[in-house]
Amino acid sequence: MNSSVVEKYSKQKMTGSHFTPAELAKAVARRLLSNMGKSHSDTIFVMDPSCGDGELLLNFALESKGYKLNLLGIEEDLQSIEIAKARLDCLDINAEFNCIDFFSLVSKQANFDYKPDKYLVDVIIANPPYVRTQILGADYSQRLAKEYNLSGRVDLYHAFLVAMTSQLKIGGLLGVITSNRYLTTKGGSSVRKFLAEHYEIIEIIDLGDTKLFEAAVLPAVFFGRKKANKSIGQKEPANFLRIYETDKEVIEKTISVSSIYDIIGSSRNGVYSINNKNTQYQMENY
Ligand SMILES: C[S@@+](CC[C@H](N)C(=O)[O-])C[C@H]1O[C@@H](n2cnc3c(N)ncnc32)[C@H](O)[C@@H]1O
Repeated sequence: MNSSVVEKYSKQKMTGSHFTPAELAKAVARRLLSNMGKSHSDTIFVMDPSCGDGELLLNFALESKGYKLNLLGIEEDLQSIEIAKARLDCLDINAEFNCIDFFSLVSKQANFDYKPDKYLVDVIIANPPYVRTQILGADYSQRLAKEYNLSGRVDLYHAFLVAMTSQLKIGGLLGVITSNRYLTTKGGSSVRKFLAEHYEIIEIIDLGDTKLFEAAVLPAVFFGRKKANKSIGQKEPANFLRIYETDKEVIEKTISVSSIYDIIGSSRNGVYSINNKNTQYQMENY
């Protein structure tokens, strides 16, 4: 590997910057829009709290034809936010960008009685940084655990999930891409509990080993609607989707598709064939 590649990957590891592929951003935006209970005359306030180069906001804007939008991108890396600004500038949409640490913004908001509308939003679309305890350092991860009521091995995205929720209106929608680790690990149990208490869960997609990211991240996508309080249960069963490559001998008929994104939109369980590789798609309701 040449030195610029090494530099890119070590920066990626320290900051958890695994940028979202455009097709996945589009799929997440579409899924959120299909659950939008708003009329086209309302303005929708949308935030990405770690917007990177703006892929998620851009795709949300492109997919949300007919809605009036007010977009807010937060990002602590100046170079990335300049790219995001330039990309969104090409569209005729209200978009504001703020180069700040999201946690410092959330703490500031918590100290004010009045929250400007732009910081309390209808939709959060996000792919927060994944940085494990070992890299965060013990002091910082303990501080995050205390502030956001997390237990076990804290990853930066766990704290993001809690902090984001404080910036979402009741009834607002969250569509978030993270590592899939919190779905099964002991360290993820406080996050699972938090999400179940604060959201009516619409869908969780475990993208297993689908290699959608260039780094060794196994992604999952969570879609939920923020509840007014913890005592409200699920009104509808949540969808739980697992998509993973399989070497299993296939006895059933495979369905040929050209990309993984064709499977995400499907409602049919089974084995799909993409470029001669078999991918199992399994949907369950809870
Ligand atoms: C996983 S990347 C995702 C970027 C973009 N949302 C996307 O989906 O392509 C996470 C981003 O979070 C930014 N970031 C890390 N810590 C942050 C913080 N405390 N506040 C705001 N942004 C942060 C990183 O610079 C990086 O751009």
